[in-house]
Amino acid sequence: MSLSLFLLLLFFPLSLSQTPPKGLLINCGAQSAAQFDGRTWLSDSGFVSSGSPKTLTSPFLLPTLQTLRSFPRQVKRHCYNVPVYRGAKYMVRTTYFYGGVNGADHPSPPVFDQILDGTLWSVVNTTRDYANGNSTFYEGVFLGQGKIMSFCIGSNTYTDSDPFISALEFLILGDSLYNTTDFTSFGLAMFARNSFGYSGPPIRYPDDQFDRIWEPFGQSNSAKASSDNVSVSGFWNLPPAKIFETHIGSEQLESLELRWPTALLPSSKYYIALYFADNTDGSRIFNISLNGITYYHNLIVIPSGVVVFASQWPLSGPTTITLTPAASSSSGPLINAGEIFYLLPLKGRTLTRDVIALEKVKESLRNPPLDWNGDPCMPQQYSWTGITCSEGPRIRVVTLNLTSMVLSGSLSPFVANMTALTNIWLGNNSLTGQIPNLSSLKMLETLHLEDNQFSGEIPSSLGDINSLQEVFLQNNNLTGQIPANLIGKPGLNVRTSGNNFLSPPAP
Ligand SMILES: *[C@@H]1O[C@H](CO)[C@@H](O)[C@H](O)[C@H]1NC(C)=O
Ligand SMILES: *[C@@H]1O[C@H](CO)[C@@H](O)[C@H](O)[C@H]1NC(C)=O
Ligand SMILES: *[C@@H]1O[C@H](CO)[C@@H](O)[C@H](O)[C@H]1NC(C)=O
Ligand SMILES: *[C@@H]1O[C@H](CO)[C@@H](O)[C@H](O)[C@H]1NC(C)=O
Ligand SMILES: *[C@@H]1O[C@H](CO)[C@@H](O)[C@H](O)[C@H]1NC(C)=O
Ligand SMILES: *[C@@H]1O[C@H](CO)[C@@H](O)[C@H](O)[C@H]1NC(C)=O
Ligand SMILES: *[C@@H]1O[C@H](CO)[C@@H](O)[C@H](O)[C@H]1NC(C)=O
Ligand SMILES: *[C@@H]1O[C@H](CO)[C@@H](O)[C@H](O)[C@H]1NC(C)=O
Ligand SMILES: *[C@@H]1O[C@H](CO)[C@@H](O)[C@H](O)[C@H]1NC(C)=O
Ligand SMILES: *[C@@H]1O[C@H](CO)[C@@H](O)[C@H](O)[C@H]1NC(C)=O
Repeated sequence: MSLSLFLLLLFFPLSLSQTPPKGLLINCGAQSAAQFDGRTWLSDSGFVSSGSPKTLTSPFLLPTLQTLRSFPRQVKRHCYNVPVYRGAKYMVRTTYFYGGVNGADHPSPPVFDQILDGTLWSVVNTTRDYANGNSTFYEGVFLGQGKIMSFCIGSNTYTDSDPFISALEFLILGDSLYNTTDFTSFGLAMFARNSFGYSGPPIRYPDDQFDRIWEPFGQSNSAKASSDNVSVSGFWNLPPAKIFETHIGSEQLESLELRWPTALLPSSKYYIALYFADNTDGSRIFNISLNGITYYHNLIVIPSGVVVFASQWPLSGPTTITLTPAASSSSGPLINAGEIFYLLPLKGRTLTRDVIALEKVKESLRNPPLDWNGDPCMPQQYSWTGITCSEGPRIRVVTLNLTSMVLSGSLSPFVANMTALTNIWLGNNSLTGQIPNLSSLKMLETLHLEDNQFSGEIPSSLGDINSLQEVFLQNNNLTGQIPANLIGKPGLNVRTSGNNFLSPPAP
């Protein structure tokens, strides 16, 4: 999806009867909040803690494209944490305009990944649009599954300079929109949304109350039709009335073939919605097929409009829509608009209990790894440094390994809430403070805290963990006595040398 970046869309005629879509508009890299298109765009500084704001010098840019946030490529991911309503459905739109921000050595924009709530949403490749002087946007529909949605930019092997983002929008969609999709298992990633036979600037807010973008497609072969008789509120997807003003159609009783969408589709299941409204008296009846497979037969198009949708339609490669009039039809077929989304299976998220505990562990470290943002385990190839996780329906943290990471700070007692942990390796850092009570970690096999500055006593509760095989505590600043229940326990390897004030267990 690409948009021309010049001022065409800037000043909407605002209609007072329309309330702007609810949600958050984030102008990445902006110093402060500002009003444009009659709506407030916030600075991104409250939503992200890494990267640096940049301003493009090119004149005539839309305000949202004038600033961006650039992220160091070496850190594998950077995240925005955006407050959302749990259970609400969001249209998330990301906008990218490179503007040459990575310098003359990198005339072409970097290619990178975008991740939403632990699921790899898509690759962000703005190369072609940028070469045409256009910005690029992506739109998806996702359910708010918690109080925060995390949106992340990921550096991949193909990312050859610092990734960036220009704008980020989270807009709440009405309950009935796309509601045949199970949003607890799938997200929708938009592939195309077009108003057929329309040639003006993209249709969006205020025509579309949710500010979805309907791009022009194809030549109109008929005079402008009236949309007055279409009852848009009757459509679950609440399309803008304006899409019914134009169509692609055939005045003869003959088949109409439409190559749409024009780009090749990756093999997947798709959500498809096709919109029709008759603009004549008489009857308009036709069959619809996609790549020769019947999609709907004997559709009777009426003046108030109809939509035909499929929730999980398999497609791949080029797509041709064929509309074949029935013998009883008095007019040829027509089509007004279409939407097609890729069904994105959600990969799941780390168990909230583990996420909360890890956030506390992060807070207690003075210099946590820079990629400790977003979901700790997901997507798998983007898991936090030092974290490995279980797979399956319950995603849990099983290993915490920050060996030799030059860490200081302490180990939060909340680590004991990650009850699936089997290995804790924090050796060769500068951690201080006490060793927390870990007795709730019933699966813990190895505990490596050697070569740090842990102080205080060794918790005797360690002896209660039956699965423990290794307890390495050497070269710390531990005091008191080595708990008797740790010594001589069969199969347990305990190391405690190099702690000046530690005494052997009482006899
Ligand atoms: C992208 O750029 C091309 C070439 O400048 C232009 O013809 C086209 O209309 C632009 N696309 C959009 C969606 O603005
Ligand atoms: C990005 O898109 C350009 C132009 O379509 C293509 O040549 C290039 O291979 C793509 N890069 C990646 C990493 O997919
Ligand atoms: C979708 O929304 C419509 C309109 O509110 C409702 O009639 C329909 O039952 C909903 N469908 C599902 C699957 O929830
Ligand atoms: C649209 O509605 C008006 C009155 O409500 C009616 O006169 C007209 O015939 C309708 N047009 C079509 C195409 O049905
Ligand atoms: C429309 O589809 C039905 C069912 O597939 C078929 O029986 C009929 O012949 C088709 N009509 C035309 C005009 O292709
Ligand atoms: C922890 O990391 C260190 C250094 O990277 C490695 O040698 C060790 O095998 C890892 N331990 C576990 C349990 O993964
Ligand atoms: C301890 O950590 C430092 C810093 O990462 C590293 O240079 C050193 O080699 C590590 N020592 C051992 C014994 O692994
Ligand atoms: C662990 O989780 C519980 C709730 O599940 C919470 O009450 C407690 O404060 C957490 N922290 C620690 C250190 O146990
Ligand atoms: C350690 O924690 C367990 C529960 O997780 C608790 O029952 C026990 O009393 C604690 N031990 C100490 C010494 O605080
Ligand atoms: C080690 O412990 C001793 C006695 O508690 C204390 O005086 C000293 O400051 C500690 N040293 C470090 C490096 O924590």
